[in-house]
Amino acid sequence: MKKLYLLLLVFPFALNAENIKLPTPVKNGGKPLMEALNARQSTRVFSEKELSANTLSNLLWAAFGYNRTDKRTAPSAMNKQSIDIYVATKNGIYLYDAKQNELQMKVKGDYRKQTGMQPFVGSAFMEIVYVAKNVSDNNEMLYADCGFIAQNVYLYCASENLGTVVRGSVPKEKLAKILGLSDKNRILLCQTVGYKKIK
Ligand SMILES: Cc1cc2nc3c(=O)[nH]c(=O)nc-3n(C[C@H](O)[C@H](O)[C@H](O)COP(=O)(O)O)c2cc1C
Repeated sequence: MKKLYLLLLVFPFALNAENIKLPTPVKNGGKPLMEALNARQSTRVFSEKELSANTLSNLLWAAFGYNRTDKRTAPSAMNKQSIDIYVATKNGIYLYDAKQNELQMKVKGDYRKQTGMQPFVGSAFMEIVYVAKNVSDNNEMLYADCGFIAQNVYLYCASENLGTVVRGSVPKEKLAKILGLSDKNRILLCQTVGYKKIK
């Protein structure tokens, strides 16, 4: 036991080295709303360029971060905040913990291609998987909640010249197994995010 304490003193992050602490999101700048709306569109051709940790943190905060003590950038029916955001990158699939502002490693490995059926899926830096936590809730409300988050991502991407497309075409059963989800969870949509390929 003494050895374990000593190890923790020397390597305080050794036990969860795969979790990623995100930088504090920057909550100003970007395009004005009307310009971002004018630029919003779906993209399906991506470059392999990686997002910086700052951009990733800003994107996730814009998606569904906390903008008040217990409320967030997207509305949710009865403030249930029922949607979890999973992020698939080349390294693994992470759960976004908005309170801690960190990504928690859930599955190691590159599963980006397994989040969709279309050829471009997996070619961008990341694939977002939107998962409803309690499917006993009213399902229509869950899809509505998810739509608001996805639109936040669209607007952030438009503001930062990133490409994105939300996708309903998702192999949900296979992906739920990869994520180890229970019956209470339901995958709703996925969203590809990355830099656009400049021709
Ligand atoms: C609920 C929903 C599901 C969608 N599913 C897919 C999809 O599976 N694959 C895809 O390439 N685009 C998908 N899209 C993107 C639409 O095709 C796209 O928004 C539409 O063609 C309009 O283009 P725009 O986003 O550039 O305005 C989806 C959009 C929504 C809102």
